[in-house]
Formats: sequence, structure tokens, C-alpha cells
Amino acid sequence: MTIKNIMVIGAGQMGSGIAQVFAQSGFDVKLNDLSEEALQEGLASMEKILSRNVEKGRMTEGEKTATLDNITTSTSLDDASDRDLVIEAVVENMDVKTQVFQKLDEVTPEHAILATNTSSLPITDIAAVTKRPDQVIGMHFMNPVPVMKLVEVIRAIQTSDETYQTIEETAKALGKMPVEVNDYPGFVSNRVLMPMINEAIYTVYEGVAEPEAVDEVMKLGMNHPMGPLTLADFIGLDTCLYIMEVLYEGFGDSKYRPCPLLKKYVSAGWLGKKSGRGFYVYE
Ligand code: NAI
Repeated sequence: MTIKNIMVIGAGQMGSGIAQVFAQSGFDVKLNDLSEEALQEGLASMEKILSRNVEKGRMTEGEKTATLDNITTSTSLDDASDRDLVIEAVVENMDVKTQVFQKLDEVTPEHAILATNTSSLPITDIAAVTKRPDQVIGMHFMNPVPVMKLVEVIRAIQTSDETYQTIEETAKALGKMPVEVNDYPGFVSNRVLMPMINEAIYTVYEGVAEPEAVDEVMKLGMNHPMGPLTLADFIGLDTCLYIMEVLYEGFGDSKYRPCPLLKKYVSAGWLGKKSGRGFYVYE
């Protein structure tokens, strides 16, 4: 199957980025959120990114206009009734995602694929609430979506080969690199990244080094573009803690226990860049 038209549910940080890359590649995109206000915010952030691309000569004014022209907005999931693919990027909450998938299963055409951008929830459980579990898959984009090459394509135990192949081809059509993984806690990206961040926090907790020193070691010594504590502040320390809890609970292995210092920062409301303070202070 070739995907021509899609719907993105959730016009937040990820959803607006996903809508942008599809529209830029010529897909017909409907962007859905609960309110007009949320949709306008999503479109405004997209417009800002596209204008910066024009200023920097990465795109012409005509390409910017064509991208925006490929996007229409919607506040009703019923509008998914003519879509080949729907990508859900709503809040990371299983109840909300379950409700969205049940409704999409009712309203979308029989051939439609239902994908989720979840960073930590089990795709197998999401697939199980629909009557088309073989057409449900994880399409995990990285932040910022227009910049990052990877799409981690996560197969639920029920996902068919045909669904996987369609999504792999679709990701390539966006100029992204799809990588196939199976559905286990944290998939590959967060299973490898989050324990590294958690361990970096342990080195601060145990007084091995200051945050700046930990980040310098990983930048200069391991060639990481950004130190793990800076990255944690960018991701949000609440999100890091949440994903560590998913790993800890999902595997029942003490190697995934969240660092007490991470828990303390989150309790204090020190969530990183978004709250003005995490391992660093932001003006
Ligand atoms: P966000 O909070 O920026 O956006 C979520 C949007 O979903 C909001 O605009 C909200 O109004 C909307 N929404 C909530 N319930 C809805 C519903 N029932 N129907 C339609 N819209 C609804 O969140 P963000 O960061 O964009 O994350 C979205 C998803 O992407 C989550 O599952 C998250 O785990 C995943 N993700 C996030 C990454 C990140 O770096 N922020 C990276 C990769 C995945």
C-alpha cells in the first residue's frame, strides 16, 4: 500500500513537527487537536521553523507556502474517515491513547494503518484495544522532528509484515532512516539512552563529579554532541524519571532503579530547561 494522506493527532511539540515533515514531502496532512487554540499554536511554531529555513536559504518561500498548503486542521477524530495513515502524538497517557485508538478504529477506512509516536508505552497493549491489531505500529520520531534522521519503527507482537513494510517505505519517503525494533520497554532508543542519563545522575549523587565535569567527559571523551545532564535537562527530568520507572517496572531489574537525586529534583519541581532549573539554571 502507498500512503498518500495522513492525519496527525496532537499538535504539540512532536505532532506539529511530524505534520511539518509529512507536508514538506508532499503528503496531504490533517492536523488534529482538542481545540482551535492548540492547533493555532502548533501551526505558529511550524511557521516559525519554516521561516527560519527560508532565511537560512534551506528552503524557498514557495516551498514554505506549499508545505503549509498541504495542511488542514481538525478538532474531530471523525475527520480521519478518509485517511490512509493516522499518527497519534497526544500526551503520554495510556487511557487517553486507548480512547483515541478505539475511536480511530471505528472511523478510519479498513485499510488504514494506526501508528503511535509513544516514547514508552507498550505498542502491543495499544494494538490490543483495536479490531485491527496487525495494522498498529510504533512510529517513534525524535525531537526536533524536522532535524533528526531516525524513525524507530516498533513492531507490536501483532504487527503484520505488510504494515511494517508500508511504514518503512513511508519513513524513507520523508527522507528519514527507519530502524526496525521490537516492542519491549524503552524500545532501543530509551533503553540505551535513559540508563546512561540515570548513571550520569548517580555520579553526581555519589559526589564523583560536578554536572559540568560529567558533561565535559562525555562530550570531549566520547564525542557526544551534548553531555547527558544537559540532554536530561532538555528532555525534561520528569520525562526521564517516568521512562526509568517504565524500564524498572517492565523488566523488574534493579539495574534500572531511578537515581534518588533524579526523584528529588522532580519532587522539587526542578524539571530542567522547561522549569528554569534542572542540573543547570536557565534564565
Ligand atoms: P505535547 O504536550 O507538546 O503535545 C500533546 C498535544 O496533544 C497537546 O497539544 C494536546 O492538546 C494534545 N492532545 C491531548 N489529548 C488529545 C486528544 N484526545 N486528541 C487530540 N489531541 C490531544 O507533547 P509532545 O512532547 O508532543 O509528546 C507527544 C507524544 O510524543 C507523547 O506520547 C510523547 O511521549 C511522545 N514523544 C515525545 C518526545 C519529546 O521529546 N517531547 C520525543 C518522542 C516521542
